Amino acid sequence: MSLIQKIEVLKEEALERLKQTNNAVELNAWRIRYLGKKSQLNDILRSLSTLPLNERKQVGAAANLLKTGLEERLSKKEQAINRKRIESTGEEQLDVSLPGCSLPIGRLHPVTQVIDEMSKIFVSMGFQVVEGPEVEWDYYNFEALNIPREHPARDTMATLWVDYETDGGDRPMLLRTHTSPMQIRVMEKMQPPLRVIVPGKVYRYEATDATHIPMFFQIEGFAVDKNITMAHLKGTLYEFSRRFFGQDRRARFRCDYFPFVEPGVEMAIECAVCKGNGCRLCGSSGWIEILGAGMVHPKVLERVDIDPRVYSGFAFGMGIERVPMLRYGIDDIRLFYSSDLRFLRQF
Ligand code: DAH
Repeated sequence: MSLIQKIEVLKEEALERLKQTNNAVELNAWRIRYLGKKSQLNDILRSLSTLPLNERKQVGAAANLLKTGLEERLSKKEQAINRKRIESTGEEQLDVSLPGCSLPIGRLHPVTQVIDEMSKIFVSMGFQVVEGPEVEWDYYNFEALNIPREHPARDTMATLWVDYETDGGDRPMLLRTHTSPMQIRVMEKMQPPLRVIVPGKVYRYEATDATHIPMFFQIEGFAVDKNITMAHLKGTLYEFSRRFFGQDRRARFRCDYFPFVEPGVEMAIECAVCKGNGCRLCGSSGWIEILGAGMVHPKVLERVDIDPRVYSGFAFGMGIERVPMLRYGIDDIRLFYSSDLRFLRQF
């Protein structure tokens, strides 16, 4: 049999065998047998140099043609086997040439945005930002703020108590019901002059509805120095209102009671919806209360060894969620914490 015939036979045989391969293992065996180093085809290719020139050309061309032909068939078969495997196993095919999916870009939560915006305003007025613990001692949350054990003001803040066994003594622990305990913590450590704001989470044991949730945010602020008066309190908060709510929004103060301030006030701003004429949002009063404030009670200063005859201070505490609610006309506080991206993406 001439080499040319041999090549022809080899081709028939290889193609016939290729048809019978069904998986990667069989295909690899086929590759070794017909295209490997010890294959007949390779033997022929290696022997080319020993052939007379004329035959060499002829045989060489045929052998190389077979080689590329078989390689082509091999790769086709390989793809077919792969495709079959993926289809049968349901395995996902990775197409590296597909364009990547773009990841959605996150954004700050609307409440975080408001905290940042408010903090910037107070920082520009010389306040520093401090944070404190959400799990707090009764002492800081109530006692030191002039709210003793049997004080009725405790009933206005339904408290979530924390069971603890480590302390042994009579030191009840709770989830802070307001950010005011940070007044005490800061004044214990730092001496006046002080200008501090404290944004953070607070907790109340309350049933959830459109305006109540058991966890919400407050921002506390206070200033202690010699000769601080009610005029500083009003000046600071009017300025805040102008910058945050706008030049034309009116703000007003009225008397209120908080055990840790004397005198105590509440500040309200003109309702944005009805411009003070009265509507459903403001309960037809035309005003919306946004914070409690007052002059720091002398008993509170005494607690932290600051002499109330020398120093005085003002303090205020504001609920945060109400602000974006008023600004954007959001009528249900629960939306902030429902993780509904359709809602959150609007801000
Ligand atoms: N802590 C009060 C509350 O949560 C708000 C408050 C009122 C804070 C008067 C103050 C203040 O600092 O002076 O209802």
